[in-house]
Amino acid sequence: MKKLLVAILSVSALLASVVQAESNNPGGIGGVESLRGSSQLEETRPADAFKKYPREQVLESSYVYQPPLVPHNIRSYEVSLNANKCLACHSWKNAKEMGATKISVTHYVNREDAVLADVSPRRYFCLQCHVPQANAQPLVDNKFKSVDALK
Ligand code: HEC
Ligand code: HEC
Repeated sequence: MKKLLVAILSVSALLASVVQAESNNPGGIGGVESLRGSSQLEETRPADAFKKYPREQVLESSYVYQPPLVPHNIRSYEVSLNANKCLACHSWKNAKEMGATKISVTHYVNREDAVLADVSPRRYFCLQCHVPQANAQPLVDNKFKSVDALK
């Protein structure tokens, strides 16, 4: 009986030290792989190369009422409280001269359905909806299919 007790005690001491050793190693990935791969939490993974934004490439819309993808580079185009670089080319005032598509009337409608004289605040931050097109594979498998009308 005494021997059994000693054996149980030493096994539990051994287990405790294993648990201790694990908790002395904070971080790690804990067996979890995320979209950033399996790099350890305390490591900084080298950033991916910038995606190329080819000018010629025009990706078709996948669904009706989709915000068109941006077919040009947008690096250093400021969109902030003080400036909106996109509107320097895409506003109704400048679009013709800049040879850019003008924003559509929906961009003037506010959430009460009133048509404003200038871009609606809810359409001010263009990149909320419009993203540059790049040949980037989806991170998550996607089985979305376009409606027949757009095929
Ligand atoms: C220097 C002028 C200029 C600026 C600044 C600019 N664009 Fe453009 N944009 C164009 C031109 C010109 C086109 C027409 C296609 C082309 O030639 O690339 C275009 C096309 C687009 C289109 C596609 C329109 C369509 O009908 O398919 C979107 C969307 C767009 N731009 C969004 C933006 C956003 C968002 C910004 C700001 C981050 C921006 N643009 C800044 C000139 C500009
Ligand atoms: C809330 C989402 C949203 C925001 C913010 C937004 N757009 Fe759009 N945009 C759309 C959608 C949706 C469409 C396509 C349907 C439409 O015209 O409303 C569109 C269409 C466009 C088009 C093509 C118009 C045409 O006649 O083909 C241009 C250019 C454009 N947007 C530029 C911009 C610019 C520049 C900004 C920022 C000032 C902006 N958008 C902000 C959703 C948005």
